[in-house]
Amino acid sequence: MHQIARAAAVSLGTVSHVINGTATVREPLRHRVLAAVKSLGYEPNELSRGLRLNRTNIIGVIIPDITNPFFPGVVRGIEDVAYKDSYRLVLCNTDNDPNKEALCLGQLKSFLPAGILLIPAPDSTISANISGPPVVCVDRRPDGWKGDIVTVANRDGAYKAARHLIEMGHRQIGVISGPSHLTNAVERVRGFRQALDDAGISIGPEYIQEAQFDRNSGYTSTIRLLQLLPRPTAIFATNDLMAMGALLAIRDAKLVCPKDVSVISFDGLDVTELTDPAMTTVYQPGYQLGYSAARLLLERIDGSDAPAKEIELETELRVRHSVARVNTRTRRR
Ligand code: RIB
Repeated sequence: MHQIARAAAVSLGTVSHVINGTATVREPLRHRVLAAVKSLGYEPNELSRGLRLNRTNIIGVIIPDITNPFFPGVVRGIEDVAYKDSYRLVLCNTDNDPNKEALCLGQLKSFLPAGILLIPAPDSTISANISGPPVVCVDRRPDGWKGDIVTVANRDGAYKAARHLIEMGHRQIGVISGPSHLTNAVERVRGFRQALDDAGISIGPEYIQEAQFDRNSGYTSTIRLLQLLPRPTAIFATNDLMAMGALLAIRDAKLVCPKDVSVISFDGLDVTELTDPAMTTVYQPGYQLGYSAARLLLERIDGSDAPAKEIELETELRVRHSVARVNTRTRRR
């Protein structure tokens, strides 16, 4: 920094203000400093700079399952906003484990991040641990959370899925729900039940199987549903990965989707266009979730003290080929 000050014939303080953006510097001086920085090939040390400012240009991102293609889509939206404002991401994966989440949060905070975006694990303890940089929750609402959050209209999305099955003649429907300690999973079952209630249809509790938002638990839940009598003519898998497991289980049971059992899902991942049959699914805007949440976080980083903001994005039913109109013969079995 001394070399730059000498080369630009300005004070050390002026150099520091230009490099750290800590004060406005008159344009001619700023220009001279930046020219000296360039000619001397000076690379600011982000960490020492972060220590000086007690904040770095790092944004912490915590996701629950790095193997689920839904979450990288969200992170892409975050990255597009962060990159534009010269922030860099540090990504942590919690495997839906609240203890690992708490650990990641603590370690991330030691990096002096400017802010944190969190997709909570089931039983997340974030609401009790909000000291430090601003945090925005995404996709799932942790218990007791009163801060900024961006989610989708899960209940409405699930209601649309159930309505579609009912309009296609299905009455005996199985549901594979996500973990009951996750608000979005609970909201999807509520929306589904609401549609059945509105249509005067009731199903036994054994037709709603709790699973883990992954393919294997989707598979085992489907095997259980297919053993019920009457066998469901349709299954609502409340995320795409579980729907993949359902398709495999239907195939292993020597049944055909949608002829014997229809399947409808939630998320709308690109891969659902490639399944056999192509999956009818409720699309939720993962990229927009990340993008909107990152914009909200930058407002907080820039000092906004507005009351906590809640953004709820819409879902869209994408009808493809995994749901067949139920014929009266199949309905009786
Ligand atoms: O697929 C993963 C599920 O968990 C998604 O539905 C998403 O909403 C997340 O919470």
